[in-house]
Amino acid sequence: MSTAAGNKQLIAVIGATGHQGGAAVRALQARGEFRVRALSRNPDQHRGLADEVVEGNLDRPETLKAAFQGVHGVFLVTNFWNEGTDERKQATAAVDAAKNAGVKHVVWSTLPNVEAISGGTFNVPHFTGKAKIDPIVKEAGFAHHTFVVAPFYYQNLVGALAPQKQANGSLGWALPLDPDVRCVHMGDIRDLGNIVAGAFAHPDEAGNGEYLPLVGDFMSFNEIVETLNRQGHKFTFNQVPPEVFATLFPGALEIAETFSYFQAHTYLGSDSTDRIALANRIAGGRPSTLSAWARENFSVQAA
Ligand SMILES: NC(=O)c1ccc[n+]([C@@H]2O[C@H](COP(=O)([O-])OP(=O)(O)OC[C@H]3O[C@@H](n4cnc5c(N)ncnc54)[C@H](OP(=O)(O)O)[C@@H]3O)[C@@H](O)[C@H]2O)c1
Repeated sequence: MSTAAGNKQLIAVIGATGHQGGAAVRALQARGEFRVRALSRNPDQHRGLADEVVEGNLDRPETLKAAFQGVHGVFLVTNFWNEGTDERKQATAAVDAAKNAGVKHVVWSTLPNVEAISGGTFNVPHFTGKAKIDPIVKEAGFAHHTFVVAPFYYQNLVGALAPQKQANGSLGWALPLDPDVRCVHMGDIRDLGNIVAGAFAHPDEAGNGEYLPLVGDFMSFNEIVETLNRQGHKFTFNQVPPEVFATLFPGALEIAETFSYFQAHTYLGSDSTDRIALANRIAGGRPSTLSAWARENFSVQAA
C-alpha cells in the first residue's frame, strides 16, 4: 500500500465513538499506514476523532453509500444492547453498501455461536446473532475478510459488572457462575485495535476468513477476584443460582444464560490456542493482562 501523505488507503470505522471502533481508530492512527474515516450517527459531536468524521447510521443504509465511498477497508461492529437493534439487518446493510462501494477488506467483530457449541442448550442472542452474520460477510465475496472476536472486556469490571455492595456488607460480585471454573477469556478492549489494524495491514495472513480473538487473560472468577485483591482490594464472590439471578433485573436472564454457557464451554467455546497466537502475531504483541490493566484502572478504595 502507498504511504505517501494523502495517498494512503482509507479505512471506515463503524462504532468509532465506542469501545471497539474507538480502539480501531486509535490503533490505525498509531500505525500511520492508513487514513481513518470515523463513522457516527452524530458526526458533529465528534469532530477531530479521526482524519475524517462522517455520518454513518446502520439503521439508515442510505447514509452508508457516501460513508463507504472511496474506502478500502471497513471495520464493522453492531451494538446488540441498543434498544431495538437488529444486528443481522444492520450488518447486512453494511455488507451490501460495502460491496456496492467496491470495498476490498471487511473486518467484522463477531462472537461464538453458542447455539451450535452448546447443541441448543443455551440461548445467548448477543453471541449467536453475531456468529450467524459470519456467512453473510464470507459470502459477500470481498477480496479480504477477517473475523475479530472481542473477549469479556476488563472494562466490564468497572462498568456494567462493577462490584456491588453485598448483603454481608462486603463489596463484590453475586453471579450465576461457579467461581472455580476457569472459563472467562478476557481482555482490555482497547487492545482489539491492534488486531484490527494489523489485519488491515496484513491481508495475506489475516484477510482470508481468519478468526482473531483478543485474549489478555483466561481466568476463573476466583482468579479474577484474587488478582484484584492482590492489589489491595477486598472483593468477595457469591455464587447465585441462575434461576434466581434471572429474576433480579430486566435482561438478567440473558446474562444468566451467558454465564452458564461460559461455565459449560468457556467464553470462546473451544480450544483457541492457534487463533489467539495468530491474533497476537497480527497485533504485533501480547495484549495487557488483567493485573496490568487493573493497576492502571481499578483504584483501591480506602477501607
Ligand atoms: N462488554 C463486553 O464484554 C463485550 C464483549 C464482546 C462483545 N461485545 C459486543 O460489543 C458490542 C458493542 O460494542 P462497543 O462496546 O464498542 O459499543 P459502545 O462502546 O457501547 O459504543 C456503541 C457504538 O455503536 C455505535 N452505534 C450504535 N448504533 C449505531 C447505528 N445504528 N449505526 C451506527 N453506529 C451505531 C455508536 O456510535 P454513535 O453513537 O457515535 O453513532 C457507538 O460508537 C455489542 O454488540 C456487544 O455484544 C461486548
